[in-house]
Amino acid sequence: MPVTATRLAAFTESVIRGMSRLAAKHGAINLAQGFPDFEPPEELLVALERATRGPNHQYAVTWGAPRFRQALARKIHACTGLAIDPDQHLVVTCGSTEAMMVAMMTACNPGDRVIVFSPFYENYAADAILSGAEPVYVPLRAPEFNYDRTELEQAFARSKPKAIIVCNPSNPTGKVFTREELLHILQLAEQHDAFVIMDEPYEHIVYPPHQHVYASALPGAWERVITCNSLSKTYSITGWRLGYVMAAPRIIAEARKVHDFLTVGAAAPLQEAAVAGLELPASYYQGLINLYAKKKEVFLGYLRQTGLPFSEPQGAYYVLVDISSLGFATDTAAAEWFVKEIGVAGVPGSSFFREPEHRFIRFHFAKKEETLHAAGQKLLAVKKFAGKKMV
Ligand SMILES: Cc1ncc(COP(=O)(O)O)c(C=O)c1O
Repeated sequence: MPVTATRLAAFTESVIRGMSRLAAKHGAINLAQGFPDFEPPEELLVALERATRGPNHQYAVTWGAPRFRQALARKIHACTGLAIDPDQHLVVTCGSTEAMMVAMMTACNPGDRVIVFSPFYENYAADAILSGAEPVYVPLRAPEFNYDRTELEQAFARSKPKAIIVCNPSNPTGKVFTREELLHILQLAEQHDAFVIMDEPYEHIVYPPHQHVYASALPGAWERVITCNSLSKTYSITGWRLGYVMAAPRIIAEARKVHDFLTVGAAAPLQEAAVAGLELPASYYQGLINLYAKKKEVFLGYLRQTGLPFSEPQGAYYVLVDISSLGFATDTAAAEWFVKEIGVAGVPGSSFFREPEHRFIRFHFAKKEETLHAAGQKLLAVKKFAGKKMV
């Protein structure tokens, strides 16, 4: 029998998406895979209907339909102040998932090392392996999930990385990197001539007083920062699979080739329809923050009542909950118990950590308030198990 590629032995199928399947099987409320259960903005739905009747049913330009890239460039300029040339600085991808793979394959040769903060969004390890790179992990430590500057400096000096991946705001920790931290990372990247690959799908979900700082717009950043981003979370359209890579022209010229042979392009009618989202006024983004701040308040309110410790997220819509007081042997056993006995699905924290860390389950709160109340009520049942030894 022919043997499948050895590189695939180094990682498993997505734990997050596996938990979604388990939730469906047991009828649990799915707070595992981070997607909303509410509608996208009405403007997008109307535009989607219109796009089905337009001339959008064949391949779009490989690196993105011109109207979409032009709207994207205007929107990015409004957020970052950067003068984005839609023909030179952007490749439209199938979500940030593809954007990250394109960025990694554009930046790295087989054998190159890439610094990844741990805990990390689980795709990064797979992206590194599939692009032939070797991840080098630097811890973000609870409860603040800050990194140690010396540890990062040593990792750069020791591993001579080709790139560092920074998820900002961070999934799963909810950490929002400060301007000082990003300047430090950029300074190290410059010193060691490395790329900085930013993954920023939660750029618009940052809770005051925290603020999103665009690394690409910082002084000296443009030639080495490759930004991966997505419309999935900003417009509640995870199923539309729209994202992009943004970088300097010499990087984009190479990234286009990778993207072309990976997927040819993102769906043409959806690019057309999504222009309506990119043209929404600034008040839309303020409304989005208010919406998520309210959801956070509702969900964290229940978590506080359970007595389980957690760090309040500064951005994104995830929370790592410390379940060690429940006494499970592993977080995987705990996550299964939450699905089957409590009726709420989360993700075992160990799938995000390089270190042998089994203290956490990650829940997300990108759900209607009624869903969060239903999940919260179920989670309160956890109180009677705290301190007991579970199997
Ligand atoms: C940090 C991060 N990057 C990328 C993605 C993938 O997003 P997309 O739907 O754009 O592929 C996610 C999705 O949860 C994410 O949390």
